[in-house]
Amino acid sequence: MTDLSAFIAGLPKAELHVHIEGTFEPELMYALAQRNKVAFPYDSVEALRGAYRFGNLQDFLDLYYQGMSVLVTEQDFYDLAMAYFRRAAAQAVRHAEIFFDPQGHTERGVPFQTMIDGLWRAKADAEAQFGMSISMILCFLRHLDEASALRTLNEALPWRDRFIGVGLDSSEKGHPPSKFQTVFARARGIGLKAVAHAGEEGPPEYVWEALDLLQVQRIDHGNRALEDERLTARLAREAMPLTVCPLSNLRLCVVNDMTRHPLRRMLQAGLVATINSDDPAYFGGYVNENYSAVQQALDLSRDEIVTLAANSFRAAFIDRAEQQRHLGVLTAYAVG
Ligand code: ADE
Ligand code: ZN
Repeated sequence: MTDLSAFIAGLPKAELHVHIEGTFEPELMYALAQRNKVAFPYDSVEALRGAYRFGNLQDFLDLYYQGMSVLVTEQDFYDLAMAYFRRAAAQAVRHAEIFFDPQGHTERGVPFQTMIDGLWRAKADAEAQFGMSISMILCFLRHLDEASALRTLNEALPWRDRFIGVGLDSSEKGHPPSKFQTVFARARGIGLKAVAHAGEEGPPEYVWEALDLLQVQRIDHGNRALEDERLTARLAREAMPLTVCPLSNLRLCVVNDMTRHPLRRMLQAGLVATINSDDPAYFGGYVNENYSAVQQALDLSRDEIVTLAANSFRAAFIDRAEQQRHLGVLTAYAVG
């Protein structure tokens, strides 16, 4: 079994599935809880990290929402995002599309403007300092109702030029994509891209709904799509990208063992799979650790790793010239 970690470290790549609130490292979280004098049920960074054991998605989400409650000021959002961009740049991420969860902040009284200004300032600084490109995708929390998502989209309109698309995240089971048809139609109507988490814990039907009812351009996760042959064939035929997150899948018990991860079967089925980190501060690794974990567990070849990185640029919401430029740099790295 070969270990391609050194090759992966310098491999140019795009990250397409990372929740900025999921990059909140315990050290920073703890520091911001103190800075903002927010009551926090852990008395040390170690105690906080010790709580990171999850039996399923909901276990994680409970902690994730508690964690983001210490984000209060514009500077907090800046610090959070800048810390992620610094790590991503150090891992050869050339382009990042970050998710953010406005309702996780506005519902507890943080103004939309505070959040978006901090993220936007970090994006500008990171692009200048690290030479990477960054886009933002506004996610709706699916455990809330569609009226709340519609209000959030309306509230975001003054900053329409600061995000490129909408997504759907949070508790999947019992909250099918069909619940959000109106808000996605409205978002598409104003030129926004659409993505949705589907088939992480939810059934293949949710992936069908994301495609047919929300008309998404990428599926986030999509693991359970493989249970449905017709769906798998469709995803392959339409070259519909999947943003796969191996360490997340392991930590949230979506897969029990990395050697059983469906990524190899996805590649064999001709799917446009990409590798991403989801919530790296909670799941034990950033994007390169995700590549390495799955590379070693499935004994993926160098060519397969290059294909995964190429897929990340093909699946990104960037124009063709940018895509070709990234693919050229990737090819030079792979042959060099
Ligand atoms: N929000 C943050 N991470 C998520 C995940 N893996 N699934 C659904 N919602 C999320
Ligand atoms: Zn996710």
